[in-house]
Amino acid sequence: MTGEDATLIPLSAVPPAMVEDLLDRAFGEDRHARTAYRIRAGMEALDALSFAALDAEEMLVATIQCWPIALVTPEGNSVPLVMVGPVAVLPERQGEGFGKGLMAAMLDADARLAKETGASFPQVLIGDADYYGRWGFTDAHTRSWRCPGPYDQERLLARGAALAAMPHEGMLGPWPGSTS
Ligand SMILES: CC(C)(COP(=O)(O)OP(=O)(O)OC[C@H]1O[C@@H](n2cnc3c(N)ncnc32)[C@H](O)[C@@H]1OP(=O)(O)O)[C@@H](O)C(=O)NCCC(=O)NCCS
Repeated sequence: MTGEDATLIPLSAVPPAMVEDLLDRAFGEDRHARTAYRIRAGMEALDALSFAALDAEEMLVATIQCWPIALVTPEGNSVPLVMVGPVAVLPERQGEGFGKGLMAAMLDADARLAKETGASFPQVLIGDADYYGRWGFTDAHTRSWRCPGPYDQERLLARGAALAAMPHEGMLGPWPGSTS
């Protein structure tokens, strides 16, 4: 079995402690200090865009989480965005397609939501352009965006039709701009 035919379920159906264990294994236990965690500090993951992948033995192999965040402009306006990630795959199961399967499920869900609600938010992540570029993530719109902590500017990537209307400059942080 490969990730392409994994069973995908809502992340909220998985006990939180199992998700935390998987994230520790994919990123290390010091992951909480990462800048991505500061950007979405205090937020709850977006249920409709967060999934888990199970293998044929119904073992938890991979997860994707998305979060409501904001780009705060120099004038102090908060503009909504969705932060994608972490995408986490158990180290021994990487390269089997689970990451691609979870990204596809998230993007399908996002497209459905946009159709239903008429609202579409740009998506942003910190990650490898070589991997996320296949879904249209680029740094073309993010070069003057900043994050509250260390990061590589070329790894700050975004996608989405609504990007063209986004402010040129700003600081990413939790929605609605709280720092809790
Ligand atoms: C990065 C990660 C999410 C990819 O998921 P995965 O299930 O291992 O990858 P998939 O099997 O879906 O995709 C494999 C493809 O991606 C490519 N790929 C994997 N990691 C890559 C990377 N860091 N940069 C570029 N390409 C990458 C592979 O070469 C392969 O390419 P192909 O489709 O052309 O053959 C996963 O390896 C992981 O959890 N890594 C550790 C945590 C991490 O870095 N997460 C991303 C930051 S949010």
